[in-house]
Amino acid sequence: MPLIKIDDRELEVQAGDKLLAVALAAGLEIPHYCYHPALSVTGSCRMCLVEIEGMPRLQTSCSVPVSELPPEKKVDGKFDMVVHTQSEKVVAARKLVLEFLLLNHPLDCPVCDQAGECFLQDYSFQHGNAHSRFIEDKRVRANEDLGSGVVINHNRCIMCTRCVRFTREIAGTGELYVQNRGYNNKIAVFDSVPLDNPLAGNVADICPVGALLLKDYIHTTRFWHLSQTPSVCTECTAGCNITVDAANNKIHRIISRVNEQANGHFICDYGRYAHNKYVEATITSPLLKVEDSWKEVSWEEAYQVIKDQVVATGGGANLRALASPVYPNETNFLLANLVDTVVEKKSLALLPIQNGDDQTFPAGFRISGDKGGNRRGTEDMTRKLTVKPQTLFRGDVGVLLALDGDGRTAIDGDVEKLLKASPFTVILASNMNKFTERANLILPVAGPFQREGTITNDRGLVQWLEPALQLTGEAKPDWQVVAELGQLLTGQASLYTCAGDVTWKISQTIAAYSRITRFKLGKKGQFVQGIK
Ligand code: FES
Repeated sequence: MPLIKIDDRELEVQAGDKLLAVALAAGLEIPHYCYHPALSVTGSCRMCLVEIEGMPRLQTSCSVPVSELPPEKKVDGKFDMVVHTQSEKVVAARKLVLEFLLLNHPLDCPVCDQAGECFLQDYSFQHGNAHSRFIEDKRVRANEDLGSGVVINHNRCIMCTRCVRFTREIAGTGELYVQNRGYNNKIAVFDSVPLDNPLAGNVADICPVGALLLKDYIHTTRFWHLSQTPSVCTECTAGCNITVDAANNKIHRIISRVNEQANGHFICDYGRYAHNKYVEATITSPLLKVEDSWKEVSWEEAYQVIKDQVVATGGGANLRALASPVYPNETNFLLANLVDTVVEKKSLALLPIQNGDDQTFPAGFRISGDKGGNRRGTEDMTRKLTVKPQTLFRGDVGVLLALDGDGRTAIDGDVEKLLKASPFTVILASNMNKFTERANLILPVAGPFQREGTITNDRGLVQWLEPALQLTGEAKPDWQVVAELGQLLTGQASLYTCAGDVTWKISQTIAAYSRITRFKLGKKGQFVQGIK
């Protein structure tokens, strides 16, 4: 393996790897714009220039591969490459590159949405000149709507072309191109073909400056006011990693988070804009249906009603339960335990979810058609008990206890029959929808972006779902409500004080999850045992 030296760090690296990539992987900082690890290399911005001993000119580190030299040619008798990132020549070149990139760039950081997370701002501060020699008028162009909720501010664009390469190489749709050359060049869409693909929002994520913006985020907040929560998307079973940016208990945007084991570098727009679906009609207290209208009741009253109804319908043995593939493993595990303990037939069914079509893109990014985000985990938690929904409405049907589907429930014939057969339906939910409207009693629990626990994607990767929003009103964590219901119906005290306690119990109960605990998962997750 080649041995290289970058400034005073010695690194052993794979032959063929690009210099910038190995430097970044080793935690070394080399400024760059056009390079992106998931895209092809163009070497166009010149920001990553470095000095390599033995080479007459500065080199773009993003495009220089590392190679092994014959012994007689090694530098200092042992190095295959010696690189300087802070030499006088490099520092001077960076200043010139930045001066060039800023020729037409407006000094509008105070009103720019990228301020605080802008590489142009940061590099100008760290490596640029305080003054520009450019005294001519700056080129000024109006903003343009590119489509799919993406707007371009041409004045801020530095022509790194990451967005163009993204649409060609990752989305495979190629809507964007560089129009004209030199002073007149700009990012554009071909006539009458707007940016229109399910991954379009990623072009804003990968834009290193404030040129490509998401329409629904423009001027809504400042970056430094946001709390950034690393979490996982549950809109399909792919388990893409996301960062949820919120302020004052409101989500302002969702951006992708890198996890090579799940989504790579990108997310789809269904996940990116999922928070917009859940903002309305949040349920904040237990709701009891009284003569076709909802009456707010306390938790004590709600639990008393459940107890009375269970007794009136033949006891817990007749209980029917629906686990939900949109809830975390912990909640479904506790529901399965409850059913296993009190229900005579020891069976439950999975709530049917409205599915879509699988989509796969040229570079391998995929959107699963299965919209039950935690289906794999829910099946793992309930495996011994799961039956088809039609089995549940046979015999004496007692109280129906169901986890909601966040508006994605497919109320098919079997669910319809079960709802009709059940004398009293209790649904744990966060939002009013067609399914929750059918309940007799709704228990308010954590909704999407409020839930905590583990979810398992369709490839067996278990990840921690970190809540980005606080619960509102009287709502409680979903796992806690199921634990309290277990206590209510079995008379046994709950041993759990947090979701992580339940995760530990799962690890002690289900062999494939024996290595899964809250802290072992970290930010990238772990595969269930038996899967590589
Ligand atoms: Fe190397 Fe742009 S990052 S030239």
